[in-house]
Amino acid sequence: MSRIDMNIMIVGTGYVGLTTGVVLAKLGKEKKISLTSYCIDSIQEKTEMINAGTPPFYEQGLEVLLKEVIKEKRLLASTHIAEFINDVDIIFICVGTPSRDDGSMDLQFIQSASRDIGNALRSAKSKPVICVKSTVLPGTTRNVVLPIIEKHSGKKVNHDFGIMATPEFLREGNAIHDNLHPDRIILGEMNERHGRIVEDFYEKLLSGVPLLRMSIESAELVKYTSNALLAMKISFANEISRLAETIPGVDVTEVMKGVGLDERISSKFLNAGVGFGGSCFPKDVSALVDFTKRQDLVPHLLQSILDINETQPIHFVNLLMKNIPEDLEDLTISVLGLAFKPGTSDMRHARSLKIIEHLKQIKKVKTIKVHDPIAMETAREELSNLKIDVTFSKTIEECIQDSDACLIVTEWDVYKKILPKTYQELMRNPFVLDGRRIYDKNEFSSKIKYKAIGLGEISKK
Ligand code: UGA
Repeated sequence: MSRIDMNIMIVGTGYVGLTTGVVLAKLGKEKKISLTSYCIDSIQEKTEMINAGTPPFYEQGLEVLLKEVIKEKRLLASTHIAEFINDVDIIFICVGTPSRDDGSMDLQFIQSASRDIGNALRSAKSKPVICVKSTVLPGTTRNVVLPIIEKHSGKKVNHDFGIMATPEFLREGNAIHDNLHPDRIILGEMNERHGRIVEDFYEKLLSGVPLLRMSIESAELVKYTSNALLAMKISFANEISRLAETIPGVDVTEVMKGVGLDERISSKFLNAGVGFGGSCFPKDVSALVDFTKRQDLVPHLLQSILDINETQPIHFVNLLMKNIPEDLEDLTISVLGLAFKPGTSDMRHARSLKIIEHLKQIKKVKTIKVHDPIAMETAREELSNLKIDVTFSKTIEECIQDSDACLIVTEWDVYKKILPKTYQELMRNPFVLDGRRIYDKNEFSSKIKYKAIGLGEISKK
């Protein structure tokens, strides 16, 4: 009979690691399993915050759950792997894999986590299954993580410990929900027995969720392929949207709605806009391009995903300038939305930065005013690193006051509620350029000048 108690260790308490640790602890309680999540981070300040019930970063719904599992002693954070290694059955590696300037993957955190686990394993009595949840290219678990653990522990895989690749598919801002309701669980294994242990663990906590067991390398590639395909849908929608803009009466949102009703396609991730940002799509597609080249192949399609995404902010700024009357000089442009998507203060690879950079190169643009409901502090830092000077507005009204064009860059709910008359009353030349398709084109175009990504000339009724 299978065991009903199981402890886990999470190495790395970023948004993947901490949300996973918290949700698994919570599910343990629900399923009446004796399960403790030991969350390890090398930064003591972070572990102290976690143990006090305060997440070191913002993620929707995390704080409430963290406080709950801390209070019930189902989660404990520490800087020491060795302290708990004898109590754990499964170790999840959840550290970051940022990209280098050339697009290749920086493995320093994966290497140091593997070293720390190996060192702790040296004198341990337990035989844990070590699962790599971090996004790593095919071959990394077997050829990088495993040799480091074996070297530093002096132990042998499959005899003294197990190794697996178990990628995650969490969205920032939805990580708690996605952890509780995953579409699928992917288990990449080297050894059938270890695969069964981890399958058994997930069966108990998340029974009913489709679960696939496969080779380690296939599992690693599932993650990159999923992200690249989602990014491809976005770039595809953006390429079609550029075409749509040239045909009077065509609206890319209507087109994609029609296309997406085909069950084989689905309308998800077909929203045209100013492109994708964040810590995952740009990094993962770049890493896959780099990997494909190193396999002596040409990444035709993968490269196009990036090319379209890189040029979409330029296209957006060109669309703006095409619609500004020639005789207008000393332009003031408002930018609403700076975060890479709503619900986060994350600015990594945010399209707003590219758009602002391009605006800065236009002589006629004198002032750029920016606003975001929660990413203002991050934006201040990012823009000052880029040595870009903008005016930070405390309110939406302050941002659009006296401007010649207002750009919608992130689709925050607060911006959806702005009425045409507010723009009309506050702007010097009321003109809204909707980069995220948040407004009803008929409602807006009849009241003020309205242009949008993927919208051909609006037909007069
Ligand atoms: C993405 C994936 O959706 C997750 O499944 C994956 O686990 C995660 O990367 C990761 O690898 O860790 P995330 O980057 O948090 O999640 O954000 P998304 O909601 O996927 O949005 C990414 C970007 O695409 C945003 O800038 C968003 O504005 C843009 N987007 C999304 C579009 O431009 N159009 C769309 O239709 C959808």
